[in-house]
Amino acid sequence: MAVDYRGRIPNNIDLSADRRLQRALEHWQPRFLNWWSELGPEGFQAADVYLRTATAVDARGWASFGYVRMPEYRWGIFLAEPEQDRTIGFGDEMGKPVWPEVPGEHRAALRRLIVTQGDTEPASVEQQRRLGHSCPSLYDLRNLFQVNVEEGRHLWAMVYLLHAHFGRDGREEAEELLYRHSGDPDNPRILTTFNEPIDDWLSFFMFTYFTDRDGKYQLKSFAESAFDPLARTCSFMLTEEAHHMFVGETGIGRIVRRTLEVMQALGTDDPDAVRAQGAIDLPTLQRYINFWFSSSLDLFGSETSSNAATYFAAGLKGRPDEASFEDHVCLDTAERIAVPGEAGGVAEEEVPTRNAMNEITRSLYVKDCAIGMTRWNRTIKRAGFDAELFLPSTRFRRTIGRWAGASVAPDGTPMADDLYRKRLPGWLPTEEDKAYVRSLMRAVTEPGRMAGWIAPPARGIDGKPVDYEYVKLH
Ligand SMILES: [Fe+2]
Ligand SMILES: [Fe+2]
Repeated sequence: MAVDYRGRIPNNIDLSADRRLQRALEHWQPRFLNWWSELGPEGFQAADVYLRTATAVDARGWASFGYVRMPEYRWGIFLAEPEQDRTIGFGDEMGKPVWPEVPGEHRAALRRLIVTQGDTEPASVEQQRRLGHSCPSLYDLRNLFQVNVEEGRHLWAMVYLLHAHFGRDGREEAEELLYRHSGDPDNPRILTTFNEPIDDWLSFFMFTYFTDRDGKYQLKSFAESAFDPLARTCSFMLTEEAHHMFVGETGIGRIVRRTLEVMQALGTDDPDAVRAQGAIDLPTLQRYINFWFSSSLDLFGSETSSNAATYFAAGLKGRPDEASFEDHVCLDTAERIAVPGEAGGVAEEEVPTRNAMNEITRSLYVKDCAIGMTRWNRTIKRAGFDAELFLPSTRFRRTIGRWAGASVAPDGTPMADDLYRKRLPGWLPTEEDKAYVRSLMRAVTEPGRMAGWIAPPARGIDGKPVDYEYVKLH
């Protein structure tokens, strides 16, 4: 169904046919707008931003581009087209018809999953709210705002599910989603990564590379759900999410390119020399990678999880691209997973596959994260340097799961606790790193110009040139 833009809430779910739901969402809408004006992008609310807006939900040609003021963005409810006679693709109910409504026995679990996902969406907008003031270019400013309005829409996506399928509890949860705030000591967002500050654009690109990619894997798992409205909602969110990861991947790639230009001109990879030229040295990049990658790994939960097993058995949450696996029931099978062994070493443990679902998903995520690393390392090689960026060990700096609190170096070496504690700050962005990166963060707002620490993008947005006026500041 085409997106209906006639009402107050754009949608492709025939919202006007359900008066009760429509009224409930129209009641929530001003609260959302309030939240956006208070905790959305600071400043820039009057700027005309060249944004894409969903006009349909098919894989191709679903968006139209045009200048929009952010508060006037048409946030709405878009579900992927229903799949005729879709059946449950995994777990104990495999092969039975999917559910158009929430079965009573799964209500609490589904609500919890939807609220946890929903909480991350406004959280990231809050984390990124001050970045506009230090944008490296208008192109980047536009991308930031595109990500922000779409995270706002993802909040709408989850709030729709809560309102439409969870009655009074759902309405209360929808209120709470606007009540918790990122970094608020009394009332923080649910997951740690979404309370970490994002004060500079290097952190923003790391977040969109690593943390939005966690989002991709969560959404892929939900796109398999037997609860069909959740599956369809998440399928469409994935098409939006792809742009967020593009922003992260190309952002880091452009920083690497600029750094290499400076290194080549200087004939050295000496960090101080690179910094003296206003670029970001590779060891600093590595420390930011160490931080955001390790933080994002925790989002997948514990390596062994009875909750994950229950979600899989019940059909609530599958594995990403479930169809690519052979066995969709996983009843009498086992996985070997790495767990802490003696003397800080690694041991293997055999666990029922269903209990290892978090770890299976995390492993796929890690592989996906490695793709960018390989690409950037190739650029570094080609530029004539033999430095390498790498993903730290999945056992490094974990705070959730079997490896929580383990003293493991980024290269995976087990360490004595006190030595680890002494060395840890040096593996993460130091105060000095942050101060240096902050010193680079000055707004560049002339169309086509780039800050000195990042190379221009290969191409513009929507076929427009790089020097297009992507944001009209008034
Ligand atoms: Fe999102
Ligand atoms: Fe995202």
